[in-house]
Amino acid sequence: MKLLSVSNEEELSRIAAEILFAKIKSAKKLVLGLATGKTPLGMYRYLSKYSKESNQTFRHIHTVNLDEYVGSITYHEYMEENLFQHIDIPKDQTHIPDGEAENLTEECRRYEQLIKEIGGIDLQVLGIGENGHIGFNEPGTSFDARTHVVELTESTLKANAKYFVDSEQPKQAITMGIGTILESREILLLAIGERKANAVKELFKGSLNKDIPATALINHPHVTVLADKGARKLLDKES
Ligand code: GLP
Repeated sequence: MKLLSVSNEEELSRIAAEILFAKIKSAKKLVLGLATGKTPLGMYRYLSKYSKESNQTFRHIHTVNLDEYVGSITYHEYMEENLFQHIDIPKDQTHIPDGEAENLTEECRRYEQLIKEIGGIDLQVLGIGENGHIGFNEPGTSFDARTHVVELTESTLKANAKYFVDSEQPKQAITMGIGTILESREILLLAIGERKANAVKELFKGSLNKDIPATALINHPHVTVLADKGARKLLDKES
């Protein structure tokens, strides 16, 4: 696991976008795994800007998002607003779990199958929860779990309550499993701010810990952690 240290959110957003944009430019076809939350917002802003300022097309890109709330289109709206409407990606090449599906078990199966059919994920972008969750894989989740429905923990509900001021916050979500995420060929984890410092510290302890889902990544051969000063606050030394 490689640590890329940056000073602040702005620099992190720019560098993350540059990493993605370089791949978008050089690949003939690319499957990007995308994340939501506050962390990747700046990265999407830069990607939208790079797209606007260049002649670079996104028509050869397929996207698969990590998760969605059950009974909700929160993350569908987020992706449309923050990225998809700013780039020329064909709508049918963007994929997000359908939280409004009648049969959620079937939806999880469909999502797994879809990822296989488009050739697997080339680069998965991840944020990290304060409790170390990735996607919505909460503490205790099996490291080989596939896409599944989860009951969100109090910690996660509290951290994300700000997005639901006008509507009721769903208590369940569909998420790619840790096993699904680990099959990505490359992973880029973004961590911003002191609230993430403990999770980042646990990640760099180097031992698997089911209570900190992100530690599953330590066995993956190609992970880069991009962390700002706040998120690195509890690391003993920087590599
Ligand atoms: C949510 C998302 C995760 C995200 C995490 C951190 O629970 N499902 O994918 O990484 O929160 O969010 P934020 O970036 O807002 O801190």
